[in-house]
Amino acid sequence: SIESALRRRGAASSNCRLFSSDSAPERKVAILGAAGGIGQPLALLMKLNPLVSNLALYDIAGTPGVAADVGHINTRAQVAGYVGEEQLGKALEGSDVVIIPAGVPRKPGMTRDDLFNINAGIVKSLCTAIAKYCPSAVVNMISNPVNSTVPIASEVFKKGGTYDEKKLFGVTTLDVVRAKTFYAGKAKVPVADVNVPVVGGHAGITILPLFSQATHASNDLASEDIKALTKRTQDGGTEVVEAKAGKGSATLSMAYAGAIFADACLKGLNGVPDIVECSFVQSSITELPFFSSKVRLGKNGVDQVLGLGPSLSDYEKEGLENLKPELKASIEKGIKFAKDN
Ligand code: NAI
Repeated sequence: SIESALRRRGAASSNCRLFSSDSAPERKVAILGAAGGIGQPLALLMKLNPLVSNLALYDIAGTPGVAADVGHINTRAQVAGYVGEEQLGKALEGSDVVIIPAGVPRKPGMTRDDLFNINAGIVKSLCTAIAKYCPSAVVNMISNPVNSTVPIASEVFKKGGTYDEKKLFGVTTLDVVRAKTFYAGKAKVPVADVNVPVVGGHAGITILPLFSQATHASNDLASEDIKALTKRTQDGGTEVVEAKAGKGSATLSMAYAGAIFADACLKGLNGVPDIVECSFVQSSITELPFFSSKVRLGKNGVDQVLGLGPSLSDYEKEGLENLKPELKASIEKGIKFAKDN
């Protein structure tokens, strides 16, 4: 079952037996946008996570039904649905982790940046409420364009006097999930053994998988294969958008990725050592103020930004330089929006 898979995943990291559902500390997780395409399966997966004691499902519509449905599952988390802005405060109060998949998804022909005008406003209002009701929560930003919504969140929290750079994460886990899947398929190695860091940002060429650092390493891949894998990882979202033909973007694989990342945050908060995931965070790894790289998670959110790893191939170095102007512009666009609105 997924539950036992999550448990096994937990058991794989040391000390995890300390956090069986009996002794795990109380942890409240709120999902904002919980009735959406990502929100619903993410609510399901978080309900299956034994580290969650309270699950608050918030949306502008539809959450009573999702909460009633998910709430019947016989796992630890107590589920409550909240609908409409007047219930947002209650949804957020006491949250340890807030996951934000609220907003509109892409349709064919759209880039993530085309979502900016709608989602920037949604993210701004939700983050204003977070600053008020749960200022010390860890925030997992899923809403696109992540390259801009994370900077928007940082500015909103600064305005509210609550910004803690260790607690704001852009969720790029789906890029890692895709890189692992595509690499394992191409290199013909067991996917369970594969890890691939993905750095940069979360849109098009700003997504930079570091296949030169892939484990389980394969010597069988030619440079053309690596280029094709890189392109497929960068265009993975578009592959789904086109296959869904107007019905939205990745939801199921995103919910999986979001659940993995939130689980890592919860483990970090609970003091489980050596929890490392890639995420788009405030960073001094490059000259850009935000950058995605491996991050070690701890009791206060980011424990350490781990950076680019041992070395990059020439192809990756070129990719890194090429992504910087676009990523810089997206970050600046987010900051400008937050300052002007
Ligand atoms: P969806 O349209 O199915 O669901 C979005 C939900 O947000 C809806 O239920 C809607 O009612 C809700 N919502 C809208 N305004 C809200 C507000 N002010 N407060 C609370 N909820 C609000 O969209 P889907 O497919 O779930 O995608 C959500 C977001 O996630 C999009 O921005 C999409 O681009 C992004 N995404 C991010 C990925 C990543 O890797 N970070 C991957 C895939 C999607």
